[in-house]
Amino acid sequence: MNTTISQNNRVLSGMRPTGLLHLGHYHGVLKNWIELQHSYECFYFVADWHALTTHYEDPSIIAESSRDMVIDWLATGVNPGNSTIFIQSRVPEHAELHTLLSMITPLGWLERVPSYKDQQDKLKDRDLATYGFLGYPLLQSADILIYKAGFVPVGEDQVAHVELTREVARRFNHFYGKEADFEKKAEAAIKKMGKKNARLYKDVRKRFQEQGDTEALSIGKALLGSQQNISLSDRERLLGYLDGGGRIILPEPQSLLTASSKMPGLDGQKMSKSYNNTISLRESPQNVEKKIKTMPTDPARIRRTDPGDPAKCPVWDLHQVYTSDETKKILSEGCKTAAIGCIDCKQYIIDAILDELKPIQARVKDYLDDLSGVDSIINEGCEAARDVAQDTIEEVRKVMGLTFR
Ligand code: TRP
Ligand code: SF4
Repeated sequence: MNTTISQNNRVLSGMRPTGLLHLGHYHGVLKNWIELQHSYECFYFVADWHALTTHYEDPSIIAESSRDMVIDWLATGVNPGNSTIFIQSRVPEHAELHTLLSMITPLGWLERVPSYKDQQDKLKDRDLATYGFLGYPLLQSADILIYKAGFVPVGEDQVAHVELTREVARRFNHFYGKEADFEKKAEAAIKKMGKKNARLYKDVRKRFQEQGDTEALSIGKALLGSQQNISLSDRERLLGYLDGGGRIILPEPQSLLTASSKMPGLDGQKMSKSYNNTISLRESPQNVEKKIKTMPTDPARIRRTDPGDPAKCPVWDLHQVYTSDETKKILSEGCKTAAIGCIDCKQYIIDAILDELKPIQARVKDYLDDLSGVDSIINEGCEAARDVAQDTIEEVRKVMGLTFR
């Protein structure tokens, strides 16, 4: 049982501004972000420093795509009323925490992260033997820990980074979680819960610490989770006091693995900019039509009269995303018997994508017509994020001996 996992309800995720967003981002990431807004306190940010780790030679793409990326988020339904939307480099506390965490992070931990070697192999045309690139996952850890986020929605390729974050947080708490007046502060925090809850807390703490009663531990954690009138840092203090592990300053986050909706691209591979098989969220209707119409199909269907096999056709992968089971049954039959042509079959996909993009593009246009409105949303988000980040960095400075102010 892990008692140091964060009990809070905060979600944090970021995206690198390295070009136009496409349908792969929408189906694979954004729809999930939008859904999470209903149940979590969400922080979503433009990871411009992370983009620099790979695009340092020509950063123009970062400047160009940062605001556009936020516009696409807003247009698809990320709601600034529910979520804090901001730019990483506008919250310099991330960088300070990154520096401080770098002091305690063993080099081997970074060298062992799989994406380090993978990406260097994959992006052969870039020199990624840099200090910044090695530190990529630790900067990501700082992004997460500066908000004490409980949950990080990521794809499979990022799970190792969240795992590193947990290890770094654990090491940090181990070194610095023993405040001198921990017990006194914990006892004071207990009182804030009210008589009845305080008694229950003391009772389950005793049962766990004296008899190893893990059920009592769960009750205690649930009790802390339900407390409205204690601060986050008191909650973490009481969590540490409950299990005897000292105060948790940086809680360990969990990844929320996105139910891997691998949006297929135009060629049967996963949709990705590096495969050049994307449909952008801003693609014109004419381009959508052209791109779908020129998609490869089952190579056995040379003439309209040749029967085909949907299992061998990349268009069929798109039907899995867009088409009802009922219609798919008819199309599959039609393909296998040559009753329908590929042009007919593709028209369903064209219509579905156009229907999907139409309202998004209308909202993109509204935001493009009101850039100062967009900038206000971003500015407000940056400020709100900074408020939270400053609280954390102050605590971190204090426990790391940086008290001379
Ligand atoms: N590395 C992430 C990606 O490439 C982007 C990112 C940066 C991120 N910082 C983060 C994601 C913090 C989640 C949490 O997709
Ligand atoms: Fe592919 Fe549809 Fe043509 Fe069959 S009919 S080969 S599924 S595009």
